[in-house]
Amino acid sequence: MHNKVLILDFGSQYTQLIARTIRSQNVYCEIHPYLMDAESINDFAASAIILSGSPFSITNKNAPHPNQAIWNLGIPILGICYGMQLISSNWGGEVHAAFKREYGFAELYVSDSKDVLFDGLKQTEQVWMSHGDALSKLPECFNVLAKTDNSPHAAIKHKTQPIYALQFHPEVVHTPCGKKIIANFLFRIAGLKADWTPGSFISESIKLIRDKVGEKKVILGLSGGVDSTVAAMLLYKAIGNQLIPIFVDTGLMRYNEANRVKELFASYPDLNIRYVDAGTSFLNRLKSVSDPEQKRKIIGSEFINVFDKVAKEYSDAEFLAQGTLYPDVIESVSFAGPSATIKSHHNVGGLPDKMKLKLVEPLRELFKDEVREVGASLGLPDSLVQRHPFPGPGLAVRIIGAVDIHKVQLLQQVDDIFISELYSSDLYNKTWQAFAVLLPVHSVGVMGDERTYDQVCALRAVNSIDGMTADWTELPHSFLKRVSNRISNEVKGISRVVFDISSKPPSTIEWE
Ligand code: XMP
Repeated sequence: MHNKVLILDFGSQYTQLIARTIRSQNVYCEIHPYLMDAESINDFAASAIILSGSPFSITNKNAPHPNQAIWNLGIPILGICYGMQLISSNWGGEVHAAFKREYGFAELYVSDSKDVLFDGLKQTEQVWMSHGDALSKLPECFNVLAKTDNSPHAAIKHKTQPIYALQFHPEVVHTPCGKKIIANFLFRIAGLKADWTPGSFISESIKLIRDKVGEKKVILGLSGGVDSTVAAMLLYKAIGNQLIPIFVDTGLMRYNEANRVKELFASYPDLNIRYVDAGTSFLNRLKSVSDPEQKRKIIGSEFINVFDKVAKEYSDAEFLAQGTLYPDVIESVSFAGPSATIKSHHNVGGLPDKMKLKLVEPLRELFKDEVREVGASLGLPDSLVQRHPFPGPGLAVRIIGAVDIHKVQLLQQVDDIFISELYSSDLYNKTWQAFAVLLPVHSVGVMGDERTYDQVCALRAVNSIDGMTADWTELPHSFLKRVSNRISNEVKGISRVVFDISSKPPSTIEWE
């Protein structure tokens, strides 16, 4: 497949945004670490390359450099920030550490508005700067296309080759014309086609899955969430009843979850989902465990036990399908290596080794919003496609302290009231994720003439793009009042409801 962009990552916090901006224009791209070797670069056969920014200074002797092969491919290259310093250095320009780091908005004055890179832009545009180094001498074979008050070389272009470089960041929302600049680079300069669509992804994936799997059987853990459901539908389309979907009821799911999944798949009887009721074994192993990481590890290993048992019944299964998404893939190969573990997302880790199964990960190239688009295109109902993320360890990480069946049932009731009220007030799809948390705190209340001393629950609702950062959602007071009233009246055992107003960072989305 040609018609794709290679993004070389030099460690910028914005690299994923470059990929998202490109993908949002229906062009396929992949992020690879800057260390990618010449052979892999050639094999990738990109139509264009983008060099990302970096926290490094190019004047540092350990500064990251790409393989020299990229300069001889003859394809368009766009350097962003640090990428600009790399391009300039390669053609004999000089870079110096700027006297003062420039961070924030700047006015961009376009001096060559005839260049296609700036086609459709105004003479003056707002852009976002974040750099410490600047170009002190322009390479002789380059022209200046735009400047800012602080950067006489805010945008430059090779005189004869399609090599462009920007000092500012077109990939961030603070550069409103950035998407247009990237579109000009993709379509006008690199001549790419906008052919990366959910439909093309589905047909391409079906082919790839069939080639990989052949006549063999594939086991898939179905959780009822967006990712595993979309993966299941894609695999089902590709290999039909060679797919063995397994729904493990951990006893830590939302209220009525197993039935909801049964209903969702009722119209696909061929899919033949195996339901495993493992609630008792999960809850037994979690007895008296309060540490969140310990809970995650126990749940991860119990998943392995369940799958192991089921897989033994299907000795002809050779593959295990997982709903791994692109951010997990990037994280595990990215410039700086896996980022420090804050919470170990269990993801059924270790399973393939133990069970000798090979992996199929049909969504590993997609961001979450793209998975939703593919789901919609596969005909999955909106109620599924727009579902909030739900953590693998389930309610266990929303019950602070030790978990038992009574606490699970209490939390399921609270959560169900909150979520169904969000739906009926048309707020569910305006919130990225919402849930309730059961706190290990008792508080005094009064019910009729009686003093009560029941538990406290917290409601959490956040807005986010990818869960990496988040802000609490400003739900209407009248809505919160109704939910709180319903919880205190309907859920015996809860005497107080609080609303969490913490953003991430410094908090995380889940409480554990
Ligand atoms: P945090 O709490 O880290 O959550 O801000 C970010 C997103 O990840 C989800 N999350 C998990 N998902 N296993 C999962 O599959 C986990 O252990 C886990 N912990 C958090 C969380 O719900 C949010 O969407």
